[in-house]
Amino acid sequence: MSIVLRARELTRHYPVSRGLLHRPALVRALNGVSFDLAAGRTLAVVGESGCGKSTLARALTLIEKPDAGSLEIAGRNALVHDRELRRDVQMVFQNPYASLNPRQKILDQLAEPLRNFTSLSRAERRERVLAMLERVGLRPEHAWRYPHMFSGGQRQRIAIARAMMPNPRVLVADEPTSALDVSIQAQVLNLFQDLQAEYATAYVFISHNLAVVRHLAHEVLVMYLGRAVESGPTERLYARPLHPYTRSLLAATPSLPPDPQRQRIPLVGELPDPLNPPAGCAFHTRCPYATERCRAERPELRELDGRQVACHHAELLG
Ligand SMILES: Nc1ncnc2c1ncn2[C@@H]1O[C@H](COP(=O)(O)OP(=O)(O)OP(=O)(O)O)[C@@H](O)[C@H]1O
Ligand SMILES: [Mg+2]
Repeated sequence: MSIVLRARELTRHYPVSRGLLHRPALVRALNGVSFDLAAGRTLAVVGESGCGKSTLARALTLIEKPDAGSLEIAGRNALVHDRELRRDVQMVFQNPYASLNPRQKILDQLAEPLRNFTSLSRAERRERVLAMLERVGLRPEHAWRYPHMFSGGQRQRIAIARAMMPNPRVLVADEPTSALDVSIQAQVLNLFQDLQAEYATAYVFISHNLAVVRHLAHEVLVMYLGRAVESGPTERLYARPLHPYTRSLLAATPSLPPDPQRQRIPLVGELPDPLNPPAGCAFHTRCPYATERCRAERPELRELDGRQVACHHAELLG
């Protein structure tokens, strides 16, 4: 399998002002996240609101450079060759309005990446656009319409078509179906899967919905306050989550069957203040298994049972 995306210790901190009398504080939105992703594979990134998923997405798509860490796309240093690699990583947002220009015909919007990145003629570009529209379930005449003339589901299909136009190696989708009607969501998820089967695009798929993730992702990365706490093959994590946080997330997903052998751990308490994260294991304030060691010493990610997990007590939970 060829690795198309290699992230190492990606880090992004935001200074936030706390008023005149205080020094600005730092939100450690992304704090040393690493993974490899191969062509044709999907990595899901999950975790509660504010854990850093969109910050990771912006770093991967070169929208916002990380403060530290390294990123390789197709074997090249993406932090140096960002201009040349831009066509290779495309993004689909939760709200397709964010990526579509309301004043431009669909034809021109979809042709734009081809204008920028290829030497195709005007007629060839049009042909490619019409073929892609058909590929995502729209009709040729839709090319001459404007974004507001479509339903939410159709608009997201257009945004996906636009992202796929330059034939990217990596597609980062940030909650791409959570703004859609439930009845439409499954169709759009199927479209993602069909396109991946055809083009072998690697997907980074951000979602709150763990039932969707199970269906779509080959691998899962669970984040908590800017760090990965568990990552590995989807089936392994779902069958036997080793981090208490992963377990709580899975237990909170009603459409997944409960595991009779395992006690459900509800997620208790509030997410800690990201400006002032707990010492030691950041999850210890909400973890039923936390001990003195967890309050004092941050667990590093380590290999256990075919995945990576950052928990001092992961053996006890297995
Ligand atoms: N530009 C910014 N300036 C300051 N803080 C920011 C900025 N962008 C994100 N943050 C903070 O960084 C943390 C991570 O935010 P991020 O948007 O990546 O989370 P998320 O996992 O995508 O959340 P959600 O599920 O709500 O989309 C949050 O505490 C957020 O408030
Ligand atoms: Mg987000």
